[in-house]
Amino acid sequence: MIAPIVRTLGELRARTGVWRKAGETVGVVPTMGALHQGHLSLARAARARCDRVIVTIFVNPKQFNDPKDLENYPRTEEDDARKLESIGVDLIYVPGPDQIYPYGFATTVSVSGLTDMLCGESRPGHFDGVATVVAKLFTQTAADFAFFGEKDFQQLQVVRRMAVDLDIPIEVIGCPTIREEDGLAMSSRNLLLSDRSRVKAPVLAEVMEDVRAALRAGGRMSELGPDAEARILAAGFNKVDYLELRDGRDLGLLDEAGEDARLFAAAWLAGVRLIDNIGV
Ligand code: PAF
Repeated sequence: MIAPIVRTLGELRARTGVWRKAGETVGVVPTMGALHQGHLSLARAARARCDRVIVTIFVNPKQFNDPKDLENYPRTEEDDARKLESIGVDLIYVPGPDQIYPYGFATTVSVSGLTDMLCGESRPGHFDGVATVVAKLFTQTAADFAFFGEKDFQQLQVVRRMAVDLDIPIEVIGCPTIREEDGLAMSSRNLLLSDRSRVKAPVLAEVMEDVRAALRAGGRMSELGPDAEARILAAGFNKVDYLELRDGRDLGLLDEAGEDARLFAAAWLAGVRLIDNIGV
């Protein structure tokens, strides 16, 4: 059965209030829609852990620093609801913009430090938009658990920090990146790739795998990085925003493999920005 779609905060609270009174635990999976197997794996993890599961779909204007990117973002609500059917989620929350940002809305949640680098550097304001909307979704749903993909690893760390700093009583759970058969990390943005670009896209993950192997063999990022970037560009990517080794806990820059080291990349392919990260 397709889960009920709720579009107002009032109705959301009415329904979750009944669950709370019954002592049921609630899990939330925040998304911007265009659901793929990565999102579905989060919904499944929530289904396994919680009595009640809410999937939210809101294309958040505040986290897009490019108006064209916001305009082009895929919107596939009916398909999304159908995809969630087999998982048995309890509710799909699709708030209108006024339910998240009512007239006069003037608050920004900004996490410092963790947002200074990687996507924070190449997409100014992006993480303020993410932290603000996720804080709203956490408080609106009053969920006990929230499920995020490790594909957006920096986002996961930012959201964790925000929830702890604001005393929001929710446990943020990171779930593994889901990949296509050719290694490309699943992302709603993959839908924007032309057939020609789709063939080139897995090179990003391929190069990252090779860099990881070289790091594990004792190589240094400062030596491996330039060649790896050149390979990504030679495969047809237009620009590499970053290819960096960082500590997964505080995102500090590293030069060598070690405990908690992660390799992060973002690169542009024919107008589509792809990101990925892997543990080293
Ligand atoms: O990862 C996403 O889809 C979005 O950044 C999120 C967490 C739903 C906030 O809008």
